[in-house]
Amino acid sequence: MLAPVEIAGVASCVPARVVTNFELEKLVDTSDEWISKRTGIKTRHIAVEETAVGMAAQASAEALAMSGVGKDDIGLIVACTVSGDNLTPAIASSVQRALDIPRCAAMDISAGCTGFIYALVTAASLMDTLGVNSAIVTASEVLSRYLDWTDRSTCVLFGDGAGAVVLTRSAEPHVFYPVLNAIPDTDDVIVIKKEARSTPFGLPVDGRMEYIRMKGSEVFTYASGVMEDTLRRLLELCGDRPYTKIIPHQANEKIIDYVMRTMRLDREQFFINISEYANTSSATIPIAMTDAYRAGWLTQGDRVALVGFGSGLTSGGVVIDWTIPNKKEN
Ligand code: ACO
Repeated sequence: MLAPVEIAGVASCVPARVVTNFELEKLVDTSDEWISKRTGIKTRHIAVEETAVGMAAQASAEALAMSGVGKDDIGLIVACTVSGDNLTPAIASSVQRALDIPRCAAMDISAGCTGFIYALVTAASLMDTLGVNSAIVTASEVLSRYLDWTDRSTCVLFGDGAGAVVLTRSAEPHVFYPVLNAIPDTDDVIVIKKEARSTPFGLPVDGRMEYIRMKGSEVFTYASGVMEDTLRRLLELCGDRPYTKIIPHQANEKIIDYVMRTMRLDREQFFINISEYANTSSATIPIAMTDAYRAGWLTQGDRVALVGFGSGLTSGGVVIDWTIPNKKEN
């Protein structure tokens, strides 16, 4: 069961360096026109000195300040990433250290681009199990370090960034209807292989770099189908109080367009910011939530579906009732 919780703070942190499609024209055989038309992406933020831990810590600190929760009251940090800085410690532990949180449970989750949904649901479930009143959920990605910058079919699609929310226990539940799913990726349609390392006892290794490899059209078909299925399932679960707004994972705007058409939804119901950030994997949804809130698109009382899909092949969704007053009214 999810604890009765609400989102009390939200923030994001993206690298300062903005890379335009035009800049990528100088790296690979591509064009702004191809990228914009096929994906909706115009720019992305790429880490130069920023790290996954640093961005997660900054987003978490800002979300914490916004929530009004004291750092001593945080009992749990759940982070997610597919492109963390270290194998260990977990990003969650590094965020705990950076924020000087004296004592809490801390762990990372890896579920591809669906990571934030999995992390949010895990945190809201554990809050009851552990008797925790406040938790940080953060997603942080530096996928640019895992891109083959000579492969035009992948390097144009991704960007770096982090987002975070603070969950606090509330009188009524405001995070509902977790839908977590996965099917086996039998065809290896999205893979980042860990670089092989030799040992005195092992066979010779193929020390290829850890690049993302993706079969784009297969992922497209999977993603559009599963996003629609998840949104339909969430609608059923909502019963007579359906969600009216959607914050989707954003890998390609065409995937969102497809779901809009098949479900006969209006563009205004979706918050879409892929043009600025490209696909920031698990950080996409909390970055979009932050922008949606700051733009006044998310308003108190909104019922919103968060929906994602990613490598694994994972998928998931959850419904939230937004309780933070509109920024302009603060
Ligand atoms: N610039 C110019 N041409 C390109 C580029 C580029 N950046 N990339 C591919 N092309 C070319 C191809 O080489 C191909 O050329 P050819 O016809 O001469 O062989 C042509 O464009 C068409 O290629 P397609 O792959 O058919 O293009 P498509 O319209 O399917 O778009 C894309 C490819 C954008 C990758 C699309 O399939 C897609 O978005 N798929 C989903 C990706 C996704 O969701 N990824 C995230 C997964 S979640 C996660 O966890 C990582």
